[in-house]
Amino acid sequence: MKEKELIFKTSGMEETMRFGKKLGMLLSPGDVVALVGELGAGKTTLVKGIVQGLGVTDRRAVKSPTFSLVHTYEGRMPVYHFDAYRLEDTQEMLDIGSDEMISGDGVAIVEWADKVSGCLPKEYLQITLTAVSAHERKIELRIYGYRYDEIIKNLFRT
Ligand SMILES: Nc1ncnc2c1ncn2[C@@H]1O[C@H](COP(=O)(O)OP(=O)(O)OP(=O)(O)O)[C@@H](O)[C@H]1O
Ligand SMILES: [Mg+2]
Repeated sequence: MKEKELIFKTSGMEETMRFGKKLGMLLSPGDVVALVGELGAGKTTLVKGIVQGLGVTDRRAVKSPTFSLVHTYEGRMPVYHFDAYRLEDTQEMLDIGSDEMISGDGVAIVEWADKVSGCLPKEYLQITLTAVSAHERKIELRIYGYRYDEIIKNLFRT
């Protein structure tokens, strides 16, 4: 399995959203984005940008789906936004039908993906967010599989 890592830094939530938007514009059906990071690291903020890039116009609709576990938005394609924070294991993810939503007709984005790694496909894009200071975040991209090579190349170009 091919692995590559890229590191970006943002200094404010707007910049994180802009980064997310650029990434969202490059995603296609079947793509899976696994988000890792502590409470308040900026996962949901990044998701707001990603869904904007995917053509979802109302980014205010994007909130951590803490209680429902998954929110679906309609953009250029369906966007499935999961939050696994409250889950103990992968079974609950499977119970809500994650299999159909992950690597399906749309893009799947999973907050706290490390808690449900068993639900992830072989190939996915992992993004780890870390708070460096009150306003700065480190954003580490790691790709598992060739599928995301083009995306990474294009993120560098823009
Ligand atoms: N550079 C930055 N990028 C993103 N968020 C930032 C940044 N600097 C400060 N913040 C703040 O950090 C917080 C990030 O909150 P957010 O809900 O996105 O985190 P989260 O990782 O989804 O947390 P949770 O695990 O609770 O869902 C916000 O209050 C935001 O204003
Ligand atoms: Mg969140």
